[in-house]
Order: sequence, then C-alpha cells, then structure tokens
Amino acid sequence: MKLHGDIKYIGVNDHQIDLFEGQYVVPNGMAYNSYLINDEKTAVIDTVDCRFSGEWLLNLATELNGRVPDYLVIQHMEPDHSGSIGEFLRLYPNTVVVGNAKTFLILDNFWGEEIVKNRLEVKDGEKLTLGKHELTFVFAPMVHWPEVMVSYDAYAKTLFSADGFGKFGALDAEEEWDCEARRYYIGIVGKYGNSVQILLKKAAKLDIETICPLHGPILTENLQHYISLYDIWSSYRTESEGVCICYTSVYGHTKQAAQLLADELAKNGCPKVAVADLARDDMAEAVEDAFRYGKLVLATTTYNASIFPFMHDFLTRLAEHNFQNRHVAIIENGSWAPMAAKVITELLSTCKNITFDGTVTILSALTDENRAQIAALAKKLCE
Ligand code: FEO
Repeated sequence: MKLHGDIKYIGVNDHQIDLFEGQYVVPNGMAYNSYLINDEKTAVIDTVDCRFSGEWLLNLATELNGRVPDYLVIQHMEPDHSGSIGEFLRLYPNTVVVGNAKTFLILDNFWGEEIVKNRLEVKDGEKLTLGKHELTFVFAPMVHWPEVMVSYDAYAKTLFSADGFGKFGALDAEEEWDCEARRYYIGIVGKYGNSVQILLKKAAKLDIETICPLHGPILTENLQHYISLYDIWSSYRTESEGVCICYTSVYGHTKQAAQLLADELAKNGCPKVAVADLARDDMAEAVEDAFRYGKLVLATTTYNASIFPFMHDFLTRLAEHNFQNRHVAIIENGSWAPMAAKVITELLSTCKNITFDGTVTILSALTDENRAQIAALAKKLCE
C-alpha cells in the first residue's frame, strides 16, 4: 500500500456482510479503512464497524508499537466508521476526540455524552499540528451526512476523503474501480451532487498526491481519472453513450418488448445497451446505469391502477437520488386500462430536465404495430 512513511493503514476487510448499509449487495465484501499518523503526536483517522473492533484495535496497537493515540479524528459518524469509538475509548480514555459541532451532536446521540472525556471541537478550515504533519479539516456536509469533514495533510500531500472516492468491495478483491465505485457513489452519495461539487472545488485548491478514502483502495496514481468521474457523477452529466432499459414483466410480454428494443438498438449501432429486470437484478446496479447513460427506457405493466411494484420502487429511488438531465422513453403494457405511462410521468415529475422521447402502448401482447413502433423508438434513441 503506497502511503507516506508515517501514515499506516489499520483498516479491516469485511467478507461477512450480507447487505451494506442494510440494502446494498456487496459480493466482494467491504473495506472499512482507518489510518494512523505516527508523528510527534499520533492521530487515528476514524474507526471501523463494531463487528471488527478487535481486529482493528490489534492493527492499531501493532502500528502504535507501545505509543498511545493522542487524537482520534472523527470525519464521519455513520456506524461503519464510528462503530468502534466505544471500544477505542475504553482502551484509550484520555485520547482527544476531534470533530465538529455536528460530529459531537451525533456522537452523543449514539454513545451518550459521558463517553468522550477530552473533546476538541474544530471549525471549517481549522488545523491540527501533529509535528511535521498538519491536518486541515475541510467540512463536507452531506457527503454523506451533515457532520462529514475531510482532512488534508499538506506534508504528505494526502487527502483523507471520508466516504468520497470510496467503493464497494474489500481491499483483497481484484476488481475494476469504476464500476463498484459508481454503484457506491450513485447509491450512497448520489443525491448530494451539489455538496460533492462544493467539495471538489475546495479540493482543487489542494496539492494532492494521495487520496485515502474510508472504503476501497488508496488512490495514488492518475488521480484525475477519479476526480473527473466524480465531477461527471456529481453534476449529473452523462458518463457513457448508450441506453439503459429497465423493465418489469409478469408473464413475459413486457420482457419480450424490452428484449426487442435491445435488439433493435444493437442493429442501429447503439454503443451500449444495458438491460435490467427490476424484479430480479440488483436494483442499485439499475439505478447506477440509469445515471451512467444518457437515455433510459422504462417498460412496465399497469398494476393495481398503478405500475408494477418493482418499477415503482425504482422510480422512487431515481427521484430520491435527484435523477435529472436525461432522455426517457416508456413502453407500457396493460390489458384493459393501460396507465403506466401516466404514473411514470407523475413519479418523475420532480426530476429536473427530463425529456420524454415517446411511449409505446401494448395491450397484453406485442402486435406487428407495436414491433414497428419499437423499431422506430430504437432509431430515434440512436439519432
Ligand atoms: Fe461509509 Fe456514510 O459511511
């Protein structure tokens, strides 16, 4: 792990977890990163999930090599990072806990006021000198909770970026960064694009050679790649040319329509077609693809005078995550009173800058007319 010599990685890998944050499947597990800066003073940057307190404290003790932590910096109070504060303070009760006013508000809610004996409340931009290393705390509210702050170490040219630049997957998993970082970002921080944009602007003024996030690998090379992806994602721009088709189907007819559209798009040379069955595929991956591509096709049945539940859930998630700046087309299916298009339009009405590219209505099963309409839709989406 390429870290400045005085900075030690003391995090843990979690391969036991079934759903991260109670909802995200993580086939390759999850990493809860934590760091120790060993200078004249020692500072621990964040703790880990409480299920790994023992392993983490052992990692910490090994790197401390007999020393005691002077500071515990709390960048983010979500329990995947703050869950071991209690165990830590039982072992090191005199360590000064560093956070901001909101950190301590949330910390007290989780742990009670009596747990922290020594607290240091910092303001945005305030510095903490450890020796050669000096941490500057940069507040990053809503990336991903209101108390979040990142810490910049000018001596090591290192940004401790909290949840920012994190990804799903344990550190011992061999996988491409972009895909699981995108699913993580869109799912977890996606709603807060404006807050991420503000942080990126602050970070642009810093000389950064290393990014140490709280999840995923430490980033040391080609930082511009990661920063430019964050810029695209947080400004809700299209990352890749292509069409995302998300469907639900009860007896297979709507699935047939979705598949036909995918085939027609391929025939028309569409650079990428991503297809998701919302009842069976990972919903977070479907949300990720909806944000990744510029065009989204929603195919679903009318159900209980509304739309099929998985599509309803999907659209609610899109709206909650600030889905915007996209083209949307609809394939609705309904035997006697199709109304999926109406419901979809209503559910997306809060999303900014959505261009509707038309609706194909199927009455139960595909007709030749429907096939021609889908072929025409494919052409239009490829223009
Ligand atoms: Fe990794 Fe928002 O916690």
